Formats: sequence, structure tokens, C-alpha cells
Amino acid sequence: MSWWRRGVIYQVYPRSFQDGDGDGVGDLAGLRRRLPYLAELGIDAVWLSPVFPSPMADFGYDVADYCGIDPLFGDLDQFDALAAEARALGLKLVMDFVPNHTSERHPWFLESLASRENPRRDWYVWRDPAPGGGPPNNWLSSFGGPAWTYHPASGQYYLHSYLREQPDLNWRNPRVRAAMYDVLRFWMRRGVDGFRVDVLWRLIKDAQFRDDPVNPAWTPERPQEERLLPLFSADQAEVHDVVAELRQVVDEFPDRVLIGEIYLPLERLVTYYGRDLAGAHLPFNFLLLETAWRADAVAALVEAYEAALPDGGWPNWVLSNHDRVRVSGRAGERQARVAAMLLTTLRGTPTLYYGDELGLGRVPVPAEAVQDPWGKNEPAFGRDPSRTPMQWDVSINAGFSMAEPWLPLSADWRTRNIMTAGDDPGSLLNLYRRLLALRRERPALHAGGWAPLAVAGEVFAFERRAGAERLVVALNFGAEPQRLHRPDLAGARVLLSTAGRDEGATLAEPDLRLAPDEGVILEPVG
Ligand code: NOJ
Repeated sequence: MSWWRRGVIYQVYPRSFQDGDGDGVGDLAGLRRRLPYLAELGIDAVWLSPVFPSPMADFGYDVADYCGIDPLFGDLDQFDALAAEARALGLKLVMDFVPNHTSERHPWFLESLASRENPRRDWYVWRDPAPGGGPPNNWLSSFGGPAWTYHPASGQYYLHSYLREQPDLNWRNPRVRAAMYDVLRFWMRRGVDGFRVDVLWRLIKDAQFRDDPVNPAWTPERPQEERLLPLFSADQAEVHDVVAELRQVVDEFPDRVLIGEIYLPLERLVTYYGRDLAGAHLPFNFLLLETAWRADAVAALVEAYEAALPDGGWPNWVLSNHDRVRVSGRAGERQARVAAMLLTTLRGTPTLYYGDELGLGRVPVPAEAVQDPWGKNEPAFGRDPSRTPMQWDVSINAGFSMAEPWLPLSADWRTRNIMTAGDDPGSLLNLYRRLLALRRERPALHAGGWAPLAVAGEVFAFERRAGAERLVVALNFGAEPQRLHRPDLAGARVLLSTAGRDEGATLAEPDLRLAPDEGVILEPVG
């Protein structure tokens, strides 16, 4: 069974994990120092958000050189040292790959800007103004405002699905594809185990550049971008040729993984596995980020996802990332424990986000400290509260940096840190450790089948089965005690509980009683 099926991925946001050189921003040397922590936590692979040379308009998602390391983070030698150390610890290393757009300072874009005749002009998406003047169509940038910026010197607009500093590459141009595929080879030759592909579903746009239709369901609480339905600006049929090509390149090297960042409804999402599964190994499943935190809603989602997967398509689950409110911020701190159990016991590859093991929530960031460009345009959607520094110990700045961190720590960092949590047997951190250890040990959890058992009140229960091994997971999504009548579970052994009940105890009655916010993993008898 391949490592990316069996294993657990952990996302590191490099600016915020560990500072190694005392400038208040995390870097590769700092991360390297913390690898033993990750190995001991029990994860299998580290996915590193971008560390490439970048003006940092979007904190690394504006790449100026795909084959280097930004001096803020280190250099290629430090990268090699990090990769070697990860390998020595048995950890895989997955890099971010940002193909939809470059930085406006990428040499390719500078050439593209130079003139309409430049051979690289067509590496980006240039259009004439609309007949009466103004942008070529109504497409919107994800961070607010139009997706087109006018370039007076050449009299055309260029497309940017994100900031104007992030011009979109033209993926209909075979030269762009070839150059980008070489980037993947560059990193795989350096030992990288795979890629998380940024905004994979957006690489190809409508060939006719038709206007996106107005979204009748938009309300002012939603991002500006959602005023339109992205019918023509994203998720075009031809993108699947690109996905298949990316996969072929990744398959040139053994045992590599292709993960796609895809925010789409379920039925569109699963198309990214590709025909005959020749697309992404793991189209990221972000559905838990958007589902109401209730037993019935989550149960319905898991069933729908399991049913929608193509034959042989391997599932995956995500609870938090650097773009969304963390799970503890959404579901509350008590439920973060239930969420941890859900994430690590569902069928498929889990991705953990750094800091979730501390129960970090929405860390308040004062207006004057806001860094995120989206947060500057649309404060309600600012991503800084999910990107604050990791809190390691009780030393200065929670052991993250000797200098003032680039974003604030959570106010309770003196008690909420890895060192303190490590000493507390009941901490969320230690719950994660036990869950990850159990998942690794039990084939039913890392490889077995999944079937729903019950949705009753605030309880969602399911089973995992591999051969003769059968485990039952029962989760209480509510703050009230719950009781589930299951005579078949009488005598079952408690393998793990989020609420500290005795492990190894057996259930005496025909009713399974769950404490408020409790999740249990049981091993039924017989
Ligand atoms: C998705 C990334 O996760 C996000 O952080 C970034 O701003 C956009 N893509 C643009 O690259």
C-alpha cells in the first residue's frame, strides 16, 4: 500500500512554524530543527507551503523563480539538508506547486510585458479591451476587484485570478506546460515525494472568455468574488488534459504523489481523479471545512463522498488549512477533540494543519497588524488568524523566534504550547499522538473499509473493517450526554476515548453512553 494512502500528511506554513535565524519569520533551518517533533507526533509526510523566491505579495503564492528558495527561508543547500533529514526520520516531503500564476516579477512575465511581439507574450493571458473600452469581460479576482489589469504600454489587459501581482499563466500554451513540467522534475530529482498543486481547477479558462453569470444566491456576507458563478473562468473540461499530463510527469518518478487543491462541489471534485484514475491521486476534499458541525450533516457528507468516489479512487479529508478558519475556531475547542478523532478514523488520507494539535482557533489579529492581502481588501475573510506562529514552549515568543513574530501569538501561549501540552496526558496534542499511533497500528483504520452504523441525535457512529478486524467509532457532536442503544456493542473494548474514560475497559450495558463532546473507538467482541 503506497505511503500516501496509508500515511498522514501534515501541512507546515513555513513562515509560522519555526524561526531559525532570528528575524521573526519561520524558515527551513527552523523546520529542520522541528522534524523530530513531527516524526514523534506520528505523521508520515510534511507538505510545505511555498518557499520559492517571491516578493511575498501573497506570502509565497506569487513565485518569481520556481527552482530556488527565497533567502527569507534559506537556500537550496538548506533545502537539501532538510530533505535528507526528513528522509532519515522516515518522513516524506511534499512541496507546493503554484502553476496557475507567477509573480509579476517572474522573468517570464517581465518578458511578456516587454511587447506584444515578445516570444513570451503568449505565456500569460492577454486580451484587448472590451469594444467600448474597459476589461475584456466581467471576471473577478478571488481577492476582490476585477481579474484584469490594464497595461497602458501595450494597450491590453492581463488576467489575474488573484492579485494583480499574480498574473495567470496561459496553460493553453504548450511551451508553458513544458517549462512547468520541468519544474516538477527539478524538485523530484532533488528527492521531493510529491506536490500539492495550487488551484488546480482554475488552470484552464473558457477559450472564448465569456462573461461569468451573476450568482443569484450571493449575499453581502459572502466574498465579492462569489457575486459571479465561475462557469467560464474555472473548471473547464480541458483542464483534465493538463491534470493527466501532470500525473504522467509525476509518474516518471517512483512513488510520488499528486495532490490537487480543488474547491468544487462534490460531483465536480471527484472528476479530478481523472478518467481511469489517471488524474490527481488525491483531489483535496475540503467538504468538512464547509459543512455544518452536526452529526447528521457530517454523516450525510461522509456518505455522499464515499458514494461519489470513482472505483478505486482513494479518499482524503482535511479539517483546516492556511486559507480557512481552523476547526477549533469553527466547531469550538471541545469539539476539536471529536474532530481529531473523525479526521484520523475516516477512510482515506488525513491532512493535519500545524497548530491544530494545540487547538489553536481564530487568533485575533489587530487591524494594524493585518498581513494578508485578502484581509486588507475584505477584512471578514482575512487569513492571518489561521496563520499565526506555532507555540512551542514557555520561552520568549513561545520558542518560535527570538524576534517579534510576523503575526501575533495567541494570548494564552504560555499555557497553550507543545511543551505544556506534552506534559498533560489529557491534552489534545496527546490525543492526536494516541490517535495517530492507533491509526498506524490498525489496518482497519489505515486501510480498511468504511460503513455507517448510526446517526441518532448528535451521535454519528461508523465502523471500519479489515479482514477479521472490526472497529467502531462513535462521536458525540453535541454538548449533551448521548445514549445509543446498541446491544451488539455490549462487551466491546474501549480502545480510545476523547473524554479520558478508561482505555481497555469494556462496555457493560446494551446502551453506549457518550459524555458531552466525547468520541470513542471501540473494538467489539466476536
Ligand atoms: C490557494 C492558496 O492556498 C492560497 O493561499 C493562495 O492565496 C491562492 N491559492 C493563490 O495562489
